[in-house]
Amino acid sequence: MDVDSALRQIEAAGSLEALQSLKVQYLGKNGLLTQQMKTLGSLTPEERRERGRQLNEAKGRLEAALEAREAVLREKALQEQLEKEALDVSLPGYAFPTGGLHLTSQILQELLDIFRRMGHSVVEGPEVESEFFNFDGVNMPEWHPARDMQDTFWLEKPENFTIRGPFAENVNDLGGALLRTHTSPMQVRYMIQHNPPFKIVVPGRVFRYEQTDASHEAMFFQLEGLVVGPDITMADLKGAITELARGLFGPEAKVRFQPTFFPFVEPGAQFAMWWAEREKWLELGGSGMVHPNVFKAVDDYRQKMGLPRAYEGMRGWAFGFGIERLALLRYGIPDIRYFYQQNRLSFLRQFRN
Ligand code: DAH
Repeated sequence: MDVDSALRQIEAAGSLEALQSLKVQYLGKNGLLTQQMKTLGSLTPEERRERGRQLNEAKGRLEAALEAREAVLREKALQEQLEKEALDVSLPGYAFPTGGLHLTSQILQELLDIFRRMGHSVVEGPEVESEFFNFDGVNMPEWHPARDMQDTFWLEKPENFTIRGPFAENVNDLGGALLRTHTSPMQVRYMIQHNPPFKIVVPGRVFRYEQTDASHEAMFFQLEGLVVGPDITMADLKGAITELARGLFGPEAKVRFQPTFFPFVEPGAQFAMWWAEREKWLELGGSGMVHPNVFKAVDDYRQKMGLPRAYEGMRGWAFGFGIERLALLRYGIPDIRYFYQQNRLSFLRQFRN
């Protein structure tokens, strides 16, 4: 066996696998060196000592060379792996598209915050409403001309339709079922279940059966306000709307009331807000002092259910307006259909918060 040639082979081994087979070839159980070791027994003692020393020395050198080469190859393999798996942490990552609040939600939250600061509770009512709460209860009996102003989606009532919820068993006939045309029915629902005094706001979807155009949608959002107590006046209403205007348009904002008719208030007034920055009035919604007939409908209903009448001698103010209308005016949005039709993300993204 030629030790120098073996050492050169080890030195030249290009991979850990090649090195391993060299190791087997020389030092394995049947390796060349091992075989020579086995022949020692047939030598004389002097020869054996000399030969043994040589073979041991050769074995030592081969082992050392194998070890050294292995270290080099391992290092090389590691470097190659590191290079192959290199990760450039400075590359830009993937963008994660995140959602955002819809413009309507953003404005609603802003509005609710303003009213919470004034001590109002936020309550919500059902979108499928009964004829009684939507119309009769807010002083709009069947023959009332104001019913024509709110074209309505009527729902087919199943044969054995029952109304669930508190006191439902005491209610005989609440008329037809419909998609509420305004948030005002919640005034009646709330007063039936709560005693005065209180302050609430009611946000929610409302539905009108009409042709859509740039300023009309079949579905939109309203915010309703209602405050009832023994000595509530129109001045309180004006104060609250003024506070709302300041919350929305800054400390110089002003409000303007003009007498108008709504069946559920007397006197009734539409209100506008002065947007100082743009120097214009924004005609926003309706308001007024709660009509005695509304209190009466509430108390009659309460009485029918065995609850004490609680609204005689009470006074209250109420308002209602469309959320999208406020957004249209404030941001100069030309078409209300951008809000919910066509999934117009390009429009909505402009208002990403
Ligand atoms: N319910 C009315 C509508 O949908 C808005 C409204 C006007 C609500 C005057 C009120 C109010 O509470 O006092 O057109």
